[in-house]
Order: sequence, then structure tokens, then C-alpha cells
Amino acid sequence: MLILGIESSCDETAAALVCDATKIEQRILSNVVLTQDKEHSPFGGIVPEIAARAHLKHLDDIIMSAMTAADVSFDEIDGIAATGGPGLIGGVIVGIMSAKAIASVKKKPFIAVNHLEGHALTARLTSNISFPYLLLLVSGGHCQLLIVEDIGKYKRLGTTVDDALGEAFDKCAKMMGLGYPGGPRVEAAAKTGDERKFNLPRPMRGREGCHFSFSGLKTAVRRQIEQIGSGNMNSQDIADLCASFQRAAGDVLIDRCKNGLNQFRSIYPTGNILVVAGGVAANKSIGNRLAELKHTENIQLMIPPTELCTDNAAMIAWAGIEKLKSGHTSSLDFKPRPRWPLDPNAPPAIGAGVKA
Ligand code: KG4
Ligand code: ZN
Repeated sequence: MLILGIESSCDETAAALVCDATKIEQRILSNVVLTQDKEHSPFGGIVPEIAARAHLKHLDDIIMSAMTAADVSFDEIDGIAATGGPGLIGGVIVGIMSAKAIASVKKKPFIAVNHLEGHALTARLTSNISFPYLLLLVSGGHCQLLIVEDIGKYKRLGTTVDDALGEAFDKCAKMMGLGYPGGPRVEAAAKTGDERKFNLPRPMRGREGCHFSFSGLKTAVRRQIEQIGSGNMNSQDIADLCASFQRAAGDVLIDRCKNGLNQFRSIYPTGNILVVAGGVAANKSIGNRLAELKHTENIQLMIPPTELCTDNAAMIAWAGIEKLKSGHTSSLDFKPRPRWPLDPNAPPAIGAGVKA
């Protein structure tokens, strides 16, 4: 099975061709990603209108580049998968309309994919793991622990009550003048920093359950900057603050994942796989910290390669393959879903004991 995937829900315009070859290294035929960093960096964050226009301008070329790189024609593909949400509505409309147009002209199945499901299933593209597994989803818009039970079947154990972790990375980077996108810049700066220099809070650590909170950590970073005086911060101060922030975030993730693993195992006693996905999973320092759980919790830890952690269309194509194989296609009437939870039955995080 060969699927064209399209991703346009945030600030990456992407297209990919992916097949279900038994050999993992033969699955991705092409994976083209155009980031809009240049368009958004003057504003220090994503501007939805600019994002939508950039997707519209570039998507056709990106799709053709992916087709050419994979050396396939539209007649050879078995379906078109596109991100149907959650995300910025303008970009999602652009991707969905293109996918529907190709599907209707070429008479191929169209599959609307939940962007979060793309992240959630990436580990099954890059390794042979079966359901169920525990997923730590850490991206720019989401921070959740979920049990992945099957295609389309998710049980959310916890979510953030305020900022997502990627968002906290981005905001801290902005405060330190590191620019956009923040996550990779904080990671790079932290390499030469002392992670014990600043004593930052570990929100939610030690509490029951699997919810997260990062706004207090972000505020503590702001206070440190104010204390030193933003104009007085030298590159070593920035490196130390980035490293201390990463250390604190890592401590929180480890604590939350331990609770998540306990809950996972109370439902699935033999469950022993933890998958980390989403942009923040690209952070090697966070990945190394989470690797501590391999020994203390006796689990297998799976983190996809960097280029498949951050937004891409290979994950959307792969989710399309998984969905099509299990008999799920979408109607050409599908309406983009700017909000699309993986677990619609999860209760709101309000009441988790921290600011809602
Ligand atoms: O999954 P993703 O590409 O887009 C969303 O679905 O949100 O995640 C983007 C987020 C951004 O907040 C970005 O700063 C963060 O992931 N990110 C990182 C790293 N690379 C990307 N955060 C920390 N360290 C990184 N190396
Ligand atoms: Zn994403």
C-alpha cells in the first residue's frame, strides 16, 4: 500500500510518500518539509494568517517534489491522507482541499488524519511495536500522557492545565532573546550551561495523576531574567538558565511518566513500552533523561528520529496507511476540525489542583 500524506496544520508545509514495506528502512519513499521559520521569526511566533498564505503558496510544489523524489505517479498511489486537525484552520483547509481534489480527480480514497494520531503512530512506522503502549505527546500545542490502545482508540491519562511544554520552550527562548523557533535554540544553548545553577520549580512533581503544568516554570524563568536584568545577561547566564529549565522540565516529565506507567500497567499488566512523540521529543537532553526510566521502570523507550518527531507528512501518510488498512476512509464532505481530541471522553483537566 502506497499513500500520499499532506501536513499543513501549523508552520510546516509537508508532503510525503510512504508504503507499508515489511523492511522499515524501505517505507518512506520521500519526505519533503518546508518550514515557515523565516516568515514567522520577525514576529517571535506563528501568525496564523501568514501560515495559511504560505501553505497556499507552496503546497502544490511540495506535493510535486514529494511525488518526483519518490518517482511515483498519482495513478500508482492507493490513497491520499491529509491532516484534518487539530491545528490552525487556514492551513488545515489548504491541505484538506488539495487532498480532496486529488482524491476526487484520481478516484482514490481520501483519509482525514488527526495530527496527534500522526505523532502517536510514528513509532509504528519506525519500529515494529504493537498496541497497547503508553505515549508521552509533547509538542507545541499539546502535552499529554495517553494509552494508545488501537488505531483511533486512545485513553488520555493526563494533559497540561496551562502551557504545553513546547510552548514553554518557545516562550522562554523568546524571553532570553534566542528567537523562534525556541525549542532547538534552548537545547543548543543549554549544551554549555550548568543545569544546577538556577533553582527552578518542578510543577506537579509528586502529585497524584498525570496532569502537567508549565506556566509556573516559565514564570520562574522570567523572574530570573528580571533579577539578573535582561540587558545584563551574558551568554553563560543564558546557557545556565536554559540548562536549568531543561533539567526542571525533564524532572517533571520523569515524575509524570512514572505515574502514567503505573496507571498503564494497572490496566495492561504486561505493558512495557513508552513512546515519546511530538516536537519536544526531538530534544536529546530530554530524551536522555527519559532513558533513566528504562532502568528504574524496566521499560522499552521509543523515540522516533528527530525529523519524524517534529511536524512532517510521513507520519500523516503512515497514519493514513494504518487507517485505510483498518477500513477507515473519510467522505469528501469532511470538515476540518481545528479541535479534535484523541480521547473525546477525557474529562477536562480543570480541577487538577492548579490554575485552569
Ligand atoms: O510537533 P511539533 O513540530 O508541532 C506541533 O504539533 O506543535 O512541535 C513543535 C514544538 C515547538 O514548540 C518547538 O519549539 C518544539 O516542538 N521543539 C523542541 C525541539 N524541537 C522542536 N523543543 C525542545 N527541544 C527541541 N530540540
Ligand atoms: Zn505536531
